[in-house]
Amino acid sequence: MVGPTDASGVPPAHPTAWSAEQIRHVGYRTMDLIAEYLSALPSGPVFRPVPPSLSARLLATPMPESGTAPDTLLDQIATDIMPYPFGNGHPRFSGWVRSPPAVMGIFAETLASALNPSVAGGNHAAVYVEHEVVGWFAELLGFPATAAGHLVTGGSAAALTALGVARHVAAARAGIDVRAEGVQGAGTTFTAYQTAEGHACHRKALELLGLGARDIRLIDTDAELRMLPAALDAALERDIRAGCTPIAVIASAGTVNVGAIDPLDAIADICAARGVWLHVDGAYGAPAILSARYAAALAPLGRADSVGVDPHKWMYVPIEAGLVLIKDAVAARAAYSLVPPYLRTDGDAHGVGGPPWFSEFGLQQTRGFRALKVWASLTHLGIEGYRAAIEHDLALADALAALVRAAPDLEIWDPRGLSIVCFRYVGDGRLDAPELDALNRAVCTELQRGGEVFPTSTVLRGRTYLRSCLMHPGATPRDVERLVRAARTAGMRLAGIWGERAL
Ligand SMILES: Cc1ncc(COP(=O)(O)O)c(C=O)c1O
Repeated sequence: MVGPTDASGVPPAHPTAWSAEQIRHVGYRTMDLIAEYLSALPSGPVFRPVPPSLSARLLATPMPESGTAPDTLLDQIATDIMPYPFGNGHPRFSGWVRSPPAVMGIFAETLASALNPSVAGGNHAAVYVEHEVVGWFAELLGFPATAAGHLVTGGSAAALTALGVARHVAAARAGIDVRAEGVQGAGTTFTAYQTAEGHACHRKALELLGLGARDIRLIDTDAELRMLPAALDAALERDIRAGCTPIAVIASAGTVNVGAIDPLDAIADICAARGVWLHVDGAYGAPAILSARYAAALAPLGRADSVGVDPHKWMYVPIEAGLVLIKDAVAARAAYSLVPPYLRTDGDAHGVGGPPWFSEFGLQQTRGFRALKVWASLTHLGIEGYRAAIEHDLALADALAALVRAAPDLEIWDPRGLSIVCFRYVGDGRLDAPELDALNRAVCTELQRGGEVFPTSTVLRGRTYLRSCLMHPGATPRDVERLVRAARTAGMRLAGIWGERAL
């Protein structure tokens, strides 16, 4: 039995053409692939590049004229796709900000596809699941139950959504109806504020909202790469005096480079005093509020006007799952609501319409059922499970940092934050700074291609560092030992001093 086909072997696409038995056959085979993939992950390479012959074939394959039996199609996925993941899921992957997928999230994603609703709005279960999930995050981060919130693709979409509301509010205060008039000819310069450590997605969002890079003020940081509140205040003062219209201050609750948390309370005080919107990027770090170590630093999240948090990062939900919270739901609706007659959403709340539609509070009309995988992951692990997982990642980052500090030829970036450790190979002191930068870039590439470990790299105060973000509850101290050993080995070899010292 190869799954549903007609006499010519063409499989019908629509579900009612499949018998339950056929669905089970293909479904069980799919589950077998998932089980084999996930259980074999730790024993395989962290990463291996796609062979050029395969990538060329994948790129050259035209859209198929005729259909393929599901069993053949699954065979193709098993041979061409499954062996070449990007590494996250492997316990020795520590690149960027990537977690392994929560297994219940994987299944929930499949179930959500089977239901296939649009969660624009309406009176169907998916809408209430999303409201439930949004309510959980609002409570966790100290937002009122009246806040607007919805799931988006990730931190970038959360930033764009929130900053769109911020622009709308700031413009209205300046007497500009930005939805009617746009930003051209507004007669004021809109400005925004973040540090150079703030994520690049904010600049992209602000550019889309009509600000230029020159309108984004990069506020100085302290030695921990955290925003300096006094510098922020001075910049706001200057701009307001000059007749600019600040639309938002963007603070980080966990920077992507070093996991720094900006002084949220002091920044919130300044924003309140100046009447400027505070958006906090908690895409990576906000879930650390569950850890006693970070609960106090992250408590002021509740003072923000908007927050972005990514369940697909430190909550291990399969990509894509971002979440935006906006305290002033009325403002969010005013910024986005556009309901032409064919999309009428009012009336009949208990019949078809349901609660106010998500599509009135953001960019998307048709919206996937992302909430189910978030709901399933959270329900499966519970707050306790998440707290334990996050504490595990924090402890493993500590263990990595200790190993780096103990190695005579490695240098750590201090102080480090959350679950990120940045370090670099410095050898025996004979190489100058540009040589070390080039060397560490080469070390990073060699490690990534080697398949044993997978850090990424970044630049801190002008110098190149290896960067590991620990975000895998299955990773062990042995895994970080292997990272340190591999980095030192590659560093020594590439520095041409291999053999002068033995590990
Ligand atoms: C701190 C931080 N903010 C924002 C983003 C953007 O989020 P996304 O990639 O989910 O759009 C990232 C992504 O890594 C991030 O680490």
